[in-house]
Formats: sequence, structure tokens, C-alpha cells
Amino acid sequence: MKYMLITGASSGIGFETLIQCFKKNIYPIALVRNIKSFNKNLTNANLRNNQYATIRCDLEDINSVENIVKEVKKITKKLDHLVLNAGFIETSAALMTPKLNIEKHLNINFISQILIAQSIAKSFFIKQKAGTIVAVSSSAAIDANEARMAYAASKSALSTAIRVLSKELGRIQIRANVVAPGLTDTKLMRNSTEPDQINKFINELSLKKLGKANEIANLIHFLSSEDSSFITGQIISIDGGIR
Ligand SMILES: NC(=O)c1ccc[n+]([C@@H]2O[C@H](COP(=O)([O-])OP(=O)(O)OC[C@H]3O[C@@H](n4cnc5c(N)ncnc54)[C@H](OP(=O)(O)O)[C@@H]3O)[C@@H](O)[C@H]2O)c1
Repeated sequence: MKYMLITGASSGIGFETLIQCFKKNIYPIALVRNIKSFNKNLTNANLRNNQYATIRCDLEDINSVENIVKEVKKITKKLDHLVLNAGFIETSAALMTPKLNIEKHLNINFISQILIAQSIAKSFFIKQKAGTIVAVSSSAAIDANEARMAYAASKSALSTAIRVLSKELGRIQIRANVVAPGLTDTKLMRNSTEPDQINKFINELSLKKLGKANEIANLIHFLSSEDSSFITGQIISIDGGIR
């Protein structure tokens, strides 16, 4: 049995990543802030509570991040995969984006995720001489979309930090990769993108459709699995063909 820790597992891409664990004999550990929306999705998916473990964590709160390794160690002595998926976005014009908004993006999307990666690598992966990290960045970090300055910058920071980790940890066979989704049909996307913007965006894509959370989860699982054993330090776009 393998173990996978997933941040932002309550909904969307994180929840689909958790669901796919069952087909692959992976025991998922869900880092969850909003237990209500997680429970609702679990009930809809008919899951029993012995099929996964849950750790409560608000990534805005540094103390709750520090507690994660302790909680994981109560569940398992070995951890195989880390998926840094949780994300926050609040759109605003670049010149009108307040400091607090920039800090919130950086704290949730970059600093907390990297603190988790550091402590999981130190407590599990380095001792095991094995482990994978997959971080969920965004096409916004590549395309620098309007009204997403703080979000795109936080995701760029995340992508770059993961590539640095891949270089420092590669010699002990720890792999670290980034996925960069384009518009994917989830709560985060619907809450941050106007319907007319969505239609305009779809029209500009080669595949003329939105991504689905399970399509992004497929790539996360591929990059976590032995099927990608020679891939590390990459940022892989999964966006229906933006360019
Ligand atoms: N959907 C897209 O079009 C798209 C495109 C590019 C990249 N992404 C990235 O994909 C990832 C997953 O997002 P999604 O699209 O699947 O949307 P989602 O369903 O809204 O999932 C976002 C997840 O992040 C968690 N989260 C947000 N703030 C948090 C905090 N302070 N502490 C702990 N968890 C927090 C949410 O938890 P709660 O349930 O508690 O809110 C939720 O589980 C994000 O990193 C996002 O930036 C999405």
C-alpha cells in the first residue's frame, strides 16, 4: 500500500485526485480546511471513512501547517506521494491589488505549500530515499493573465521553487514536478471567471472545451507513479491547447 498526502482535497482537482487513489491501491490522506464541502463530496461518492484519512488544516495559518507532519506520522510511518494542490484566487486589477491580497495569495499558494514540501521531504522522503512531489500551478503563471497578478505571481513562485527542489533532491531519487492547468470546471474557476470570459477563452483553445478535474487528476497520478520515473523538474501544461 502506498500513501499520498493531498492539500486542498475537499473539492475539485484535489477531490478527484483522492478518488483516483482507490483504483491504484493508494491510501489518500486529505488535508482539508472546509470539512463540510469535503463531507458532502464524500457522501456523493459513497466513500467509507476507513478508505482515507483526514487532517484539518488552514494554509493561511502557519501553526496549522507546522502540525501536519505530526498528524501524518500518527497515520503512517512511510509516505510515498505529496500533492500540493490547494489554491486561492481573488481577481483584481494589478494597480488596485492591496498588500493583504498579495500576501494572502503568497501565503496559501506558495509559502505554506513549500513549508509542507520541506517538512515532508525532511521527515519522510530523504530517509526513504524515495518520494514524489506534484504541485498544481496554473496556466496563469505562464500566460500572466489580466486581473490575476497576485495569483499568477504566487503560482510562478511555486513552480520555480518546485523545480529548485527537483534539482536538490534528484540525486536521492526524489522527483518533483508541476502541472499547469488551464480553465478547468471547478468551484474555484466558476467563482473567479465571468461566464462571457469562459466562452471567449474556450473559443481560443484548440480543443474548444473546459478541462475536467479528473483529467488534471490523471496527470497528477501519472507524475506520481513509476510510469513517469525519468521525469522530474518539469512544468507540464494541461490546458486544451492555449498556444
Ligand atoms: N480550476 C481551474 O481552472 C484551475 C486552473 C489552474 C490552476 N488551478 C489550481 O488547481 C488547484 C485546485 O483548485 P480547483 O480548481 O480544484 O478548485 P477548488 O475545488 O475550489 O479547490 C481548491 C482547494 O483549495 C483549498 N483551499 C483554498 N484555500 C485554502 C486554505 N487557506 N487552506 C486550506 N485549503 C485551502 C480549498 O479548500 P476549501 O474547500 O476549504 O475552500 C479547496 O479544497 C488550485 O491550486 C488552483 O489554483 C485551477
